[in-house]
Amino acid sequence: MKSQERYVSTLRNMLREWRWILGYVNRYRFTVLLYIILGITGTVMSLGTAVASKFLIDAVVSKYDYKLFEYAAVTVGLALFQFVFSAAASWISAVIGTKVNNEIREEIYSNILKSKWEDIHSFHSGDLLNRIEGDAAAVSNGVISFIPGAVTKLLQFFGSLIIVLYYDKVMALISLLSAPFLFLASRILIKTMRKYNAASRDLNGKVISFSEESIRNIHIIKAFDLTASYINNFRKTIDAYRSVKLSYEKFSVVTTFILSVIGLAVSYACYGWGVYRLWQGAITFGTMTLFLQISGGLSSSFSALASLVPSAVSIATSAGRIMEVTSYEKEADGDRGLALEILEKSKNSPVTVCMENVTFTYSDGGSAVLNNVSLRASSGETVALVGPSGEGKTTVLKLLLGLTEPDSGTITISAGGEKIKVSDSTRRFFSYVPQETGMFSGTVADNLRAVNASAEDSELLEALEQTEMADFIGSLSEGIYSQLGEMGGNVSAGQAQRLAIARALLKKAPILLLDEATGSLDPETEDKVLRNIMTHNPAQICILTTHRESMLRYCDRIYRVNSDGSVTAADFKTEL
Ligand SMILES: Nc1ncnc2c1ncn2[C@@H]1O[C@H](COP(=O)(O)OP(=O)(O)OP(=O)(O)O)[C@@H](O)[C@H]1O
Ligand SMILES: [Mg+2]
Repeated sequence: MKSQERYVSTLRNMLREWRWILGYVNRYRFTVLLYIILGITGTVMSLGTAVASKFLIDAVVSKYDYKLFEYAAVTVGLALFQFVFSAAASWISAVIGTKVNNEIREEIYSNILKSKWEDIHSFHSGDLLNRIEGDAAAVSNGVISFIPGAVTKLLQFFGSLIIVLYYDKVMALISLLSAPFLFLASRILIKTMRKYNAASRDLNGKVISFSEESIRNIHIIKAFDLTASYINNFRKTIDAYRSVKLSYEKFSVVTTFILSVIGLAVSYACYGWGVYRLWQGAITFGTMTLFLQISGGLSSSFSALASLVPSAVSIATSAGRIMEVTSYEKEADGDRGLALEILEKSKNSPVTVCMENVTFTYSDGGSAVLNNVSLRASSGETVALVGPSGEGKTTVLKLLLGLTEPDSGTITISAGGEKIKVSDSTRRFFSYVPQETGMFSGTVADNLRAVNASAEDSELLEALEQTEMADFIGSLSEGIYSQLGEMGGNVSAGQAQRLAIARALLKKAPILLLDEATGSLDPETEDKVLRNIMTHNPAQICILTTHRESMLRYCDRIYRVNSDGSVTAADFKTEL
């Protein structure tokens, strides 16, 4: 009973996943239809060739049939056409397959990017990559070829059956003997294949995650002399994948073998029956040839129908994995109108950002990181968040940016008598320098312009000037058009921090968030950079986190984040 229930729930999930896939099939219905028509034409031609060759052989055997050459021409003509059709079908499938694959990939990518950070950040990037690549390919292949393939194979099966039925009813009955086996096999196939499929996709995700992470951190692996142990761990990860894959293949080979044997037995039974009827004189040589060809077609379409079951399972598993990451609630810039209005007002009137009685817990459980926190900052103020590592300073900034939502309490931005609750729509008020800098590959200019596409070269240079980076960038042969390596890999940590600050300044937003933004700078450069920022835009709100006492002299107010999650106003002479 338990197993029956599990089977029903598996079928229900598969049905849900296939309904999702059918949404795509519907979107590409004309293509799919064209593909079905090509498949049907090919099948009809192959059946037609078999019937034509029957007439040809009967004509040859009877010797006086003057239509011999016409039959021969039709047989050869149909066979040639079949070739052309199958070539055309392959080409169309390649063209459309790539298009659909790209569109599905783009859809997953944009869905991931639009999802709330809190929902999506717990996935490993390697796992997400695996879904964008592997699962998208499996689904797009399914969208394009599964239904046309199924239609074609069903047509081949029933077409062959009808032809056999027309010439010999007993033969038709024999060829149907395989049907109950197919029904029984499909139940076992669905259950087992689904289990293996999910496990092998997950493990493949782990392999990709592991390799991606270790390649990104190759310098750490080398520094700790961990090369051998990482190679060993990589081997273990791929071995785990291999063992699931092999169990899956073993199961697949055995079931294919059994089904092929059944198909072959049916095909030989048809052959034997045909020979017997020929010996009886009940059928002609031509009909016998027709039976031979058709029984081959019957057994091959039978195996193809059987293989549709595992491929339906595999496509559904991939669809389920894609649905999982694309089904989260999306950020939709819902308060855009009000946010733009207040942003406009902020040009002429002071802005205040205010956190009131905010309590926050990360979704993966644990205790509250912030507990009943209140703080505020207004135009022209520089406010510091201090406190020991891991107490919640970065979390405060993430809440301000609307990357996470408080469990209770409110965070608002107000200007010109209007107020708005912080959300994805209010990110336009902020410039942000994250703790880990977060530069991208591309040129220095690409990185800076990412936040302000219309910025002139002179504005880029001005931002670099303010962050004491202009001399260094100027000394490079290509200046601001010099390439930064992956994640800004070819500049020093302090230079990357200064580039990240330059990028934030270029956005020209009313609130600047600096998360340990100058931690890698020497005191002298840090001092210059901070002074430049403050004097260049005195009206800007600056909220910074720091462990350095030297930074506090720029601050109007200091908040200390405590270990119980509370935040208290602090005196900079005694705190840190
Ligand atoms: N994405 C996350 N999911 C779950 N817990 C998290 C997450 N990010 C941070 N935390 C937890 O929240 C607490 C506060 O982290 P946060 O990054 O805000 O500290 P911080 O004060 O900025 O520390 P540091 O000075 O080291 O940068 C930590 O205990 C951390 O373990
Ligand atoms: Mg932090």
